[in-house]
Amino acid sequence: MSSPCSRLVHDPEALNTAVWPVPADQFVTPAELFFTRSHAPTPSIDPGTWRLDVDGLVERPRSFSLADLLGAFPPRQVAATLVCAGLRRDEFLSLGPLPGELPWGPEAVSTGRWTGVALGDLLRAVGVAAGARYVELTGLDSVERHEQRFGFGGSIEVAKALGAEVLLAHQLNGAALPPAHGFPLRAVVPGWIGARSVKWLGRITLREDPSPNYFQAKAYRMQRETNPRDPRDVSAGVALTRVPLNAVILEPTSGSVVPAGRAWVRGWAMGAGGRQVASVEVSADGGSRWSPAEITVAGEEWTWSLWEGVVELAPGDHVLAVRATDCAGERQPAAVGDTWNVKGYSNNAWHRVAIRVE
Ligand code: MTE
Repeated sequence: MSSPCSRLVHDPEALNTAVWPVPADQFVTPAELFFTRSHAPTPSIDPGTWRLDVDGLVERPRSFSLADLLGAFPPRQVAATLVCAGLRRDEFLSLGPLPGELPWGPEAVSTGRWTGVALGDLLRAVGVAAGARYVELTGLDSVERHEQRFGFGGSIEVAKALGAEVLLAHQLNGAALPPAHGFPLRAVVPGWIGARSVKWLGRITLREDPSPNYFQAKAYRMQRETNPRDPRDVSAGVALTRVPLNAVILEPTSGSVVPAGRAWVRGWAMGAGGRQVASVEVSADGGSRWSPAEITVAGEEWTWSLWEGVVELAPGDHVLAVRATDCAGERQPAAVGDTWNVKGYSNNAWHRVAIRVE
């Protein structure tokens, strides 16, 4: 049974919000419960005059209206779990502060059924020119960084962009995209960090090099050594692409008081880059002894799986833990110290939840 959830709001403008607890029995997240992660206010876009410009290293640059796009290419659907790269950042705070970064817990993740057209179909129609290696996606929002205003953006490799799973989506769960989630059109890049699923898409540019957009070149990068001259700079790091294997306990929640005896532990797990999960294990003693959990809802190709485990709990304080292995045999690191990085991205250490048993 799920406990009632409420929306956590991480910033004064309420651009970054998510429900907690994430309901442990919901495979598809209803749009009204989906997390939101935006770096600037939601732009107001008239779908009648909106255009998607496709340029750069393409053989036939083109500007599409929504009707052009939906008329030119067959409809496609994908179920995909969007994972914010900041998921579980709050656990890094036990090691020291992360100034300027949102202290997301395990709530910045949701699963949607997305409908739209395949980015690959569009790229084949405009023709990928020789030398094009990256597809840059730019949004119509207006973000300010270092006294510059620009649309949020990033890039993905052409090989990923041509994958049938990468959509330009106009619907979430069978209804028009809500404004906060990218109306009228957004990219959905399954298996990759949420930041590459650019909302309010306005331009697609094929390039020889990765996007110079701040959110590709200066943020969303894995850097494990601090630059002493500029402690928040991660431009020397590696741009994040695939989400790592992860598993999260949703029930019971941290700080819960539960009765002694048998207790059910529930949550989600997802393989690296959206791969399937092979097994999930739970522990009632912080990770010394493990027992297998059951996968109750097996994921689709690019989604989380839901699992449930049983533990025997004696009265006292306990730390529950979960770890998963994916179908490629990848395993999670044990401690957050093993995954620490300058901006606190992609924490996939064993998830631990402290509870009290009475
Ligand atoms: N696209 C634009 N244009 N602006 C943004 O701020 N945030 C990105 C991505 N796309 C963002 C964006 C990040 S960091 C994430 S995790 C996802 O959108 C969140 O998508 P959601 O708000 O629909 O959950």
